[in-house]
Amino acid sequence: MIKIALPKGRLGEKVLNLLSKCGYRCDNFDKNSRKLIFSDQSGEINYFWVKPSDVAAYVRLGAADIGVAGKDILEEDGADLYELADLKIGKCSMCVAAPADFKDDTSVPLRVATKFVHTAEKYYGEAGRDIEIIKLNGSIELAPLLKISDVIVDIVETGTTLKENNLQVIDKIFEISARVIANKSACKFKGNAIIEIVEKLVKAVENYD
Ligand code: PRP
Repeated sequence: MIKIALPKGRLGEKVLNLLSKCGYRCDNFDKNSRKLIFSDQSGEINYFWVKPSDVAAYVRLGAADIGVAGKDILEEDGADLYELADLKIGKCSMCVAAPADFKDDTSVPLRVATKFVHTAEKYYGEAGRDIEIIKLNGSIELAPLLKISDVIVDIVETGTTLKENNLQVIDKIFEISARVIANKSACKFKGNAIIEIVEKLVKAVENYD
């Protein structure tokens, strides 16, 4: 039995679709149901439908053997696990953005609004810039508009949200895509089964149109 944590939402649905093409079909999955555990038709795979930001935690704690998570989550979580493959889907980037007239006043701490507290602390720590974190859980773009922050550290995909709120990217921190992650001890004890699934998934995503 292999346990796979998938991120609830469009990315998870895409991965489930790819896994189904690999022969791990899951007929009892219904995205509109509230059910959170599904098994494939062979009964050899259990899928857990989890909040995207929790995938790394389920894998790190061993509840799931493998999972699919964005690089943003992995950088933020800092979990001790294996990253087995880059699926090259769910692409976007982690950026610093600010209003067009932003000028950094280095005599005071920079107020940074973000969900990604560790990522922002690491980025500004490496730059030697003092910051004050404003931890928010969504609609981060509002913070500089309402003057509760100077900049934001957030995900940019199409750039539409920034544009519609008169913000612009001032630095790109890293590129993001979906990664297959694995629990270290699961790799020791179920290594062959895990590798077989991941190899099939990588091949399926390469042929995806
Ligand atoms: C994410 C992110 C940005 C937006 C970027 O928010 O936090 O706000 O998407 O996408 P874009 O560049 O294509 O406009 P999400 O939709 O997850 O909602 P949230 O604001 O609640 O985090």
